Amino acid sequence: MSAILPPADQIWWKHPIDKLEFTWIAIALVWSLTMFVMMIWWHMYGNQNLANETYKTTPAAFASKAQAAIDQHTVRTENVSFNGVDEAIPVVAPPAGSDIYLIARLWSWRPIYELEQGKTYKLHLSSMDWMHGFSLQPQNINIQVHPNYEHVVKITPNQTGTYSIVCNEYCGINHHTMTGRIYVK
Ligand code: CUA
Repeated sequence: MSAILPPADQIWWKHPIDKLEFTWIAIALVWSLTMFVMMIWWHMYGNQNLANETYKTTPAAFASKAQAAIDQHTVRTENVSFNGVDEAIPVVAPPAGSDIYLIARLWSWRPIYELEQGKTYKLHLSSMDWMHGFSLQPQNINIQVHPNYEHVVKITPNQTGTYSIVCNEYCGINHHTMTGRIYVK
């Protein structure tokens, strides 16, 4: 019997299946069905999924809504250097449970938030120009931020400290400098 020659009798599908082969087919079938069910299960009950909502908006509409909320609870400003030029970025301390807005644009995130540990906030994200990536470090949450779409994500900071926001979608020459900050106390 050689592997390059066809089998002597051509009716291989009529041969009784070997017990070992049948066992592996059964294991593979059960496992693939298990994975299929788990895929749906994890989508609904897995902690890794962000419960997010998305709405249509425009950069102008989002910016004015965001700016109004930012102005209401700005407590001070902090100088942040963008390519050697200092800019005053508002630091906002919103009340627990409120809607907070983060504006992404070439190449900054604003404002800086001061949040309370254990309190839930509704974070609204949108871009003023093109696609950016909201990456929260060291938590490693990743959300794509698009212009004309408003993403709403519920966040509950569970640890105090300073969190960094890093843009993780390449957005041009100063992509690597597009960072922001969230303080949790
Ligand atoms: Cu914004 Cu990369």
